Amino acid sequence: MTTEALLALEHVTKRFGQVVIAEDLSFAVGAGEVVGIVGPNGAGKTSLFGLISGDLACDAGEIRFTGRVITRIGPAARCRLGIGRTYQVPRPFGDMTVFENLLVAAQQGGGLRRRASYAAAVEALERTGLSGQANLPAERLGLLQRKRLELARAMATQPTLLLLDEVAGGLTDPEVAQLVEIVRGVNAQGIAVIWIEHVVRALTAVVSRLTCLAGGVFVGDGEPDAVLANTAVREVFLGTDVTAALAGGSLDAGSAGSEGSQS
Ligand SMILES: Nc1ncnc2c1ncn2[C@@H]1O[C@H](COP(=O)(O)OP(=O)(O)OP(=O)(O)O)[C@@H](O)[C@H]1O
Ligand SMILES: [Mg+2]
Repeated sequence: MTTEALLALEHVTKRFGQVVIAEDLSFAVGAGEVVGIVGPNGAGKTSLFGLISGDLACDAGEIRFTGRVITRIGPAARCRLGIGRTYQVPRPFGDMTVFENLLVAAQQGGGLRRRASYAAAVEALERTGLSGQANLPAERLGLLQRKRLELARAMATQPTLLLLDEVAGGLTDPEVAQLVEIVRGVNAQGIAVIWIEHVVRALTAVVSRLTCLAGGVFVGDGEPDAVLANTAVREVFLGTDVTAALAGGSLDAGSAGSEGSQS
């Protein structure tokens, strides 16, 4: 008997016209695993999260979560099953407080009742270091705190799989280090994480497995140093001097980063 992965994509294909997001792509993530995804701008990384979260439909293939086929169920139902995601461009309700944003996430996203949603919101605040900002309107938060709120909102839905989309983009080195600690803490609770990030050093500080999306397929998949040393990965990870980024010359290995590229 084989053990079913937490998340499994089987032969998934997705195209936007000529743009290939996934081409017969198969990929599995185990419970509690932390996997990093890099790739050039526009490779389809965010779209891949859309396929997993249910915001986008696959053209072909199957997605399973905890052994259950979820290919045709919507994002709200997938969230309740335990798939939480952040968005590359944070999407809080700006006129609501931080705490209210988390209550909405816990109730609407996580399907929690009132008492449980308060507990989930408080825990998400503590996990992400936002307790001091609980009563601030979300629109008053700075970039780091908005990134934390995005993470907290995903956490409040009580995921067993957390999808992080460039939460470190645009942050200073100390802020990135704080974020890395938060992600470590989340994973220490047993939550599996898939983290898309151009800030390679943030990824390698946390992930045990790395892969690179390009042309609808994963190029390299395995131990992070080996994947970053892979010639094919270097070739597709355009404009990127991975060695310099890892050596400390720059934290940001992305050619241009992609902060706000979807806005
Ligand atoms: N809903 C959509 N309809 C049509 N094309 C889309 C849609 N969403 C994304 N695309 C296109 O698909 C490609 C991949 O976009 P995506 O945002 O997934 O890339 P990415 O790897 O996340 O890039 P980045 O590193 O810049 O964040 C781009 O060419 C984008 O313009
Ligand atoms: Mg993206």
